[in-house]
Amino acid sequence: MARKVFILNGPNLNALGKREPDVYGSKTLHDIETECLSITQARNMACDFRQTNHEGVLIDWLQEANECAMGVALNPGAYGHTSIGLYDAIRSMQIPVVELHLSNIHAREEFRHKSMISAAATGVICGFGANSYGLALHALLDICDK
Ligand code: DQA
Repeated sequence: MARKVFILNGPNLNALGKREPDVYGSKTLHDIETECLSITQARNMACDFRQTNHEGVLIDWLQEANECAMGVALNPGAYGHTSIGLYDAIRSMQIPVVELHLSNIHAREEFRHKSMISAAATGVICGFGANSYGLALHALLDICDK
């Protein structure tokens, strides 16, 4: 198996930086990608960083990662609250999947308190802003390197 992880981002995360900066911070997704690439590079791991606004594409990418990567860090965006398809995709994977959110979903509107995918994920990081990515990535890489 190639030393590679996928970092997958769901809907509206392409708008980071402009989108509700009081909730999600001022960094763009590109800024976050740059930080993630430096973390993976330092740990001798390749990284495929992607974003889509489409649920089925996220499922395709999870299935692809399961064939060719050592693990996934996933910010599912709003689909995390709604998607049984994502839950089923993660359940069928043999590699670790770390769910992450920039915001603390438990401290926000009630409809965000429930994540459909947490029960299928290896673990969950939320509430640390852009740092949630680095924390999730280090947790994932620790599992991959075990
Ligand atoms: C989010 C939290 C979700 O509730 C929201 O729909 C998002 C972003 C986060 O990173 O905090 O799009 O996943």
